[in-house]
Amino acid sequence: MLKSKNMLTLKGQRPTSRSDSVESDLLLWWEDFYVPVFEYILPKMGILEGKKGLELGTGTGGTATLLAKRGASVIGIDLLPFRLAEAKARVSEHNVAESVNFALMDAMHLAFPDNTFDFIISKSVLVFTEHAQTAKECYRVLKPGGKAVFIENMRYHPMVWLYRKMFLKYSTKLRYFSIRDVETVGAEFENLEHREFHLSAVGALFWRKCIAIPALYRTSLRLLKAIDTSLLKCFPFFKRFCWITAMICHKD
Ligand SMILES: C[S@@+](CC[C@H](N)C(=O)[O-])C[C@H]1O[C@@H](n2cnc3c(N)ncnc32)[C@H](O)[C@@H]1O
Repeated sequence: MLKSKNMLTLKGQRPTSRSDSVESDLLLWWEDFYVPVFEYILPKMGILEGKKGLELGTGTGGTATLLAKRGASVIGIDLLPFRLAEAKARVSEHNVAESVNFALMDAMHLAFPDNTFDFIISKSVLVFTEHAQTAKECYRVLKPGGKAVFIENMRYHPMVWLYRKMFLKYSTKLRYFSIRDVETVGAEFENLEHREFHLSAVGALFWRKCIAIPALYRTSLRLLKAIDTSLLKCFPFFKRFCWITAMICHKD
């Protein structure tokens, strides 16, 4: 398998199969921060070959493409027609158009029969919805034994909170996640695993957004990510102040 320049490997190993590396260019933005999240969720999703999945709020289709490249067939839904047009172009560009279909649909009212999908995934979408209602709909359309994976933005990271206050006017309308919100979503399923990401690592963005020194950015990011891993392991209390949460919800 060829390794593209945008393909990062799990824990720096050589990729040995198409499921053990993450194409960072398909994560679309903040990819340095989403690669570890996908490295966490992809092994938990298991073998995707031949599986039928639903992506809520597919946007420009990066995640649907990534999963289709691993052999899944995916339906991507979104509320915005122009996003779906961009997503269609993306899947064609990556030669997975036959594995991905799109539909204009609200994640809170899914027009699919019960027990349809092997997996459901969404990234930065539940914040736009009423969490429990969306989780209920996902539970309904998920097959028994299926998993719903929700990657979401958390509420209380101090720097991210300040950034939203200063630059994202619409952020006041979004339902960012607290640990309690994570548990609310999980309560709609039989089992919930979740992991939180990025506390001090967000500080590395100083060397990208404020003073752009790529070498310092890369070094500080690597160092701060390692610090976060140890810190969160020793002091789970700090999970609530992370930037991103990944929930894996199981239906029995
Ligand atoms: C922040 S973008 C994330 C896009 C994509 N998941 C990604 O990570 O690149 C949120 C997307 O969710 C879509 N969205 C918001 N509310 C939705 C809803 N109720 N049902 C379906 N899609 C929704 C928006 O139109 C937008 O494309």
